[in-house]
Amino acid sequence: MFIAIASDHAGFALKKELEAALVARLVTVEDLGTHDTTSADYPDYAHRLAEGVASGKWERGILVCGTGVGMSISANRHKGVRAVVCSEPYTARLSRQHNDSNVLCMGARVVGPGMALDILDAWLGAAFEGGRHAPRVAKIERG
Ligand code: RB5
Repeated sequence: MFIAIASDHAGFALKKELEAALVARLVTVEDLGTHDTTSADYPDYAHRLAEGVASGKWERGILVCGTGVGMSISANRHKGVRAVVCSEPYTARLSRQHNDSNVLCMGARVVGPGMALDILDAWLGAAFEGGRHAPRVAKIERG
């Protein structure tokens, strides 16, 4: 799996932990920034990542900011991107199984590193179930 990851300043530290966890799980990961804790605008990173997911450059993406909210709002402006904010693993798993989420957003001021890793594993380990969920996901794009 080829995943892109990005954050603003608030999500920088958690992003680096998630990146290390992805590498340990043999996931190919590309870090799109930000690269330090200097104040940064989350939409810049969300749009960069979402464009690549929408075009198929990356299979999935992970975005981290203070709450995950600004990242998800920005990423969901892109057709074909289904970004979810998760603060526990159950929603992360169901967002894959039922909604075919392709971008996971987390808030570094909301979840600690331990919970974030559980969320990551739940999201990585779950597959879209298709079936009755497929036409519903298709309807998302209808606008
Ligand atoms: C930055 O202070 C904060 O607003 C940002 O990280 C994010 O939480 C926005 O949704």
